[in-house]
Amino acid sequence: MNVIEVKNYEEMSRIAAQHIIKKIRAHRSYKLGLATGSTPKGVYHYLVKDHQETQTSYQQIKTFNLDEYVGISAHDSNSYHYFMREHLFNHIDIPAEHTYIPSGVSTNLEKECLHYEEKIRLHGGVDLQLLGIGQNGHIGFNEPGTSFKSRTHIVPLTESTRKANARFFPSIEEVPTHAITVGIGTILDSKEILLLASGKAKAEAISRLLNGDLDEEFPASSLLTHKHVTVIADEEALSLT
Ligand code: GLP
Repeated sequence: MNVIEVKNYEEMSRIAAQHIIKKIRAHRSYKLGLATGSTPKGVYHYLVKDHQETQTSYQQIKTFNLDEYVGISAHDSNSYHYFMREHLFNHIDIPAEHTYIPSGVSTNLEKECLHYEEKIRLHGGVDLQLLGIGQNGHIGFNEPGTSFKSRTHIVPLTESTRKANARFFPSIEEVPTHAITVGIGTILDSKEILLLASGKAKAEAISRLLNGDLDEEFPASSLLTHKHVTVIADEEALSLT
């Protein structure tokens, strides 16, 4: 696992964006795995800035997002669909039909999970997966205890994750109780993984990850089994290592 220490959120975002831009320019039909949350917002800001300044093209790029809340439609401002349009898709030249995000309102969620896996597989898999990390070590919405072999599935969200995400909702009661997420096995199939962490709130999780013990109670530790993982973390996130 390659660890890049950066000063702050700004630098983390810039370096991650530069890495992604380099890949996109080098490979026309690159498949990007994308994440939501506060962590990747800065990366998307830099991707948009670069697109506006240098016209890096996303016409042939395909994106696959990690997760979505169950029961929240794509038009809802709390949905991850909305988040992605707002922060990235509306500002680059990616065709809408090239952006894949699991649906949290499908009438048959089990089928949706299978279809999503199938879509990723049919496109030849994800080349680069961008990841944030939950305070309890979750990746995507794979909470502690999730099998490292898991594929796309429906998960009940833990109280700690609902609390952490409550800042985006009017009240904690409105935070969904379930999500649809790619599995840890799905994430590990990506050819390359870029995990970002910024701030003190992530210090414990990053210290545990870099400690190196494989533990299904700490989902991010699954990344220790992957050959090509880079962690870009700032001083605060690395303060307990
Ligand atoms: C959410 C997302 C994760 C994300 C995590 C951390 O639960 N499903 O993909 O990595 O929260 O979020 P943040 O980056 O806002 O700290």
